[in-house]
Amino acid sequence: MPHRHQRSSRIPGFYKRSLAERAAATARWAELDAVERAAMLGVAGLSPDLADKMIENVVGVFGLPLGIATNFRINDFDYLIPMVIEEPSVVAAASNAARLVREGGGFRTYSTEPLMIGQIQVLDVPDVHQAASAVLAEKQALIDHVNDPSLTIIKIGGGPRDIEVRVFEQTSVGPMLVVHLVYDVRDAMGANVINTACEELAPLIEQLTGGRVNLRILSNFSDQRLAGATCLVPANALGTEELSGDVVVQSIVEAAVFAEVDPYRAVTHNKGVMNGIDAVLIATGNDWRAVEAGAHAYTSATGIYTSMTRWWADEDGNLRGRLTLPLAAGIVGGATHVHPAARIALKILGVETAQELSEVIVAVGLAQNLAAIKALATEGIQAGHMSLHARQLAIAAGASGDLIQRIADTMIEEGNIRLERAKTLVQELSN
Ligand code: MEV
Repeated sequence: MPHRHQRSSRIPGFYKRSLAERAAATARWAELDAVERAAMLGVAGLSPDLADKMIENVVGVFGLPLGIATNFRINDFDYLIPMVIEEPSVVAAASNAARLVREGGGFRTYSTEPLMIGQIQVLDVPDVHQAASAVLAEKQALIDHVNDPSLTIIKIGGGPRDIEVRVFEQTSVGPMLVVHLVYDVRDAMGANVINTACEELAPLIEQLTGGRVNLRILSNFSDQRLAGATCLVPANALGTEELSGDVVVQSIVEAAVFAEVDPYRAVTHNKGVMNGIDAVLIATGNDWRAVEAGAHAYTSATGIYTSMTRWWADEDGNLRGRLTLPLAAGIVGGATHVHPAARIALKILGVETAQELSEVIVAVGLAQNLAAIKALATEGIQAGHMSLHARQLAIAAGASGDLIQRIADTMIEEGNIRLERAKTLVQELSN
């Protein structure tokens, strides 16, 4: 495999190549063997028998398209991004935005240690403040209790890190103490390890507080496990035939502020961010509902739902953006390991740690958002959809190679984007 520093994800015209050519290029990138290639293509991979071991009452396997977003450069490394999604335009949009960001040097990302929170709910405590103090006074003993050196997670450098308490003096079911176990889960998503540790701690917490433990479960609001990305797009890279770069920067910033101030817009804006994030989470076998839930909560931290991203013009007039989110994604355990295509997606990404995966994912979210608001603030979202639709019809009508784009362009120009027209054009233009 070429060294990570030598590989370029800038692959002009990737979308114009045939599926077989794209698959071959991706297989070369990730050095996939024949079995892995078949799993990537979906001709092998997740079998009904394997599916039957993953969940209950299995009657089959449901497929989704796996696409590759190109052009991503993150912290001076190039990445091809596997994305699983049913919606057209998302993969193309991510690739386009990544190309723009590349012109500004690529994404810069960062992340915190992979610290997850487990919650233990305590009720029927005689004095909830005293109970909280009693737990904190025994913090080290509690940590030691779940710091079992024989566990793999501890051997590889993870383990319990802290105990926190939250007091709810009055609730409709009486005073409530919530004990948080903060746990470094390393490369796992962490749900299993956290839930087990919380269950082990519960009897000790009951003894210390004199209360009764009810729930013991991880929190999907993983606000101590954050990943962030920033980017710069030179204004001149944003100019179009009709609009200067400065005007586009200004329109993108206005679009971003719309989402900052108005929850009706913020939900749609953030849905666009999650288009990118979820697609990579699904491709890598991660729990995207967990990340969705945490991301939206994090975005409401002030009590008002707002935009996940920020976009502004810097002193040189260039566009700058940033996104920080809780991101509990793993590269070991669960479906990341079991699902054959998920393993291949991780291989294509080439990430070495869960932290690196979370940083790539947040960069994809920022790219996806840039693509959406740029399109909305310039030509509108339908133009891109229409061009993709036209290309799909051209392919369905039997076009291949350069002919696909020529037929699509002709149908768009004519304002007549229909399969019948595509078929006629294939006949006319092929001769
Ligand atoms: C469509 O899936 C996502 C967008 O609506 C996001 C946005 O409006 O920013 C295009």
